[in-house]
Amino acid sequence: MINQIAVIGAGAMGTGIAQVFASFGYETILYDLNQDSLVKSRNKLQDVFNMLVQKGKITDSEAKSSFSRIHFASSLAGVKNADLVIEAIIEKLEVKQSLFKELEGLVSESCILASNTSSLSVTSIASACNRPGRVIGLHFFNPVPLMKLVEIIPAVQTHTATIETCKKLVDGIMKYGVLAKDTPGFIVNKVARPFYSESFRIYEEGIADFATIDWALTEFGGFKMGPFTLTDFIGHDVNYTVTESVWTAFYFDPRYTPAFCQKKLVEAGYLGKKAGKGFYDYSENSQNPSPLQDENLGKSIFHRVHAMLVNEAADTIHRGICTLEDVETAMTKGVNYPKGLMNWGEELGYDYIVELLDGLYDYYHEARYRVSPYLRNKINS
Ligand SMILES: NC(=O)c1ccc[n+]([C@@H]2O[C@H](COP(=O)([O-])OP(=O)(O)OC[C@H]3O[C@@H](n4cnc5c(N)ncnc54)[C@H](O)[C@@H]3O)[C@@H](O)[C@H]2O)c1
Repeated sequence: MINQIAVIGAGAMGTGIAQVFASFGYETILYDLNQDSLVKSRNKLQDVFNMLVQKGKITDSEAKSSFSRIHFASSLAGVKNADLVIEAIIEKLEVKQSLFKELEGLVSESCILASNTSSLSVTSIASACNRPGRVIGLHFFNPVPLMKLVEIIPAVQTHTATIETCKKLVDGIMKYGVLAKDTPGFIVNKVARPFYSESFRIYEEGIADFATIDWALTEFGGFKMGPFTLTDFIGHDVNYTVTESVWTAFYFDPRYTPAFCQKKLVEAGYLGKKAGKGFYDYSENSQNPSPLQDENLGKSIFHRVHAMLVNEAADTIHRGICTLEDVETAMTKGVNYPKGLMNWGEELGYDYIVELLDGLYDYYHEARYRVSPYLRNKINS
């Protein structure tokens, strides 16, 4: 039974996680080793609850009681009565391992220890603990109050009871919980890779400029943002690091090879919107390219990127990383794709997608374009 939740790390994610649990009635302890972060987080939470009242989403008394359920701890010992601790600190394995070790000396034996890591092995984090059966990944998406997905990632050592408790907990905060095997990028950060990397490849090969590729994917794919606008928004440092870590962790599988065009942006400090420049220029009076609105070109770009995405979703099922149902939920709720990829693939025709990928494979002779057996079996069955 989870009554009290502690969140460690009061940054972007920890603050959002604390807001959600407090809003659902949980007594929530928020701790950060940096006092400034804790103060900023407190101010942000106060502003968010006020804004929700102004917008008529919650009443003044709901805002006050939610905010009063969040207790800001100035020492780690403040988390000792928690039934669940969710860690959302810096993405460094050794730092997370040492925090988990320290936590074990403070909390009760039944307390669940969860990590919000996006890219580290949950199994490696658990290995630092005396009771690794209570360790699990709970991967929330940014911004936490708005994004409806949580990836639940059991470590190799995680007990079934820990998984079941977390599933119920995620249901209770009205989010979609999907179960992912502890593999690099889990579901969303793996399956989404081709959206960026295949688009970068098309751009690097001069098939189309970035404005045209963005146009193609929004116009014909219905994606809210094209890959160049989106990575400018996410920050190229962040997006490139995820790609590089998935590529490295999958033993340099060519399907995930990072793109030089993005690496160069990182090296130049053109990190995207936050730096005023990425693929696009965000300075005042800047002149950005307009898309070449050629329907045939646009559709061919969309179909190529889409085929790579469907193949990646199929591969994720094929490797037993998650179920068909969960990959559909993950991509529609975690990154707001307009449709579940497998369903979308079926709509356009799996045979068409396989033919397209086989054509790319014949042309490039690269393992990057190998068709997942799961997809090939779909057309043979
Ligand atoms: N930002 C995202 O979009 C996103 C999405 C999903 C998961 N994540 C993961 O969530 C975690 C946090 O990311 P974030 O974006 O909120 O980072 P952030 O930099 O905004 O916040 C991290 C906070 O942790 C604190 N901190 C660092 N080391 C600490 C320690 N040893 N003890 C206590 N506090 C410590 C820092 O002072 C900081 O306030 C990372 O593991 C990240 O990979 C991030």
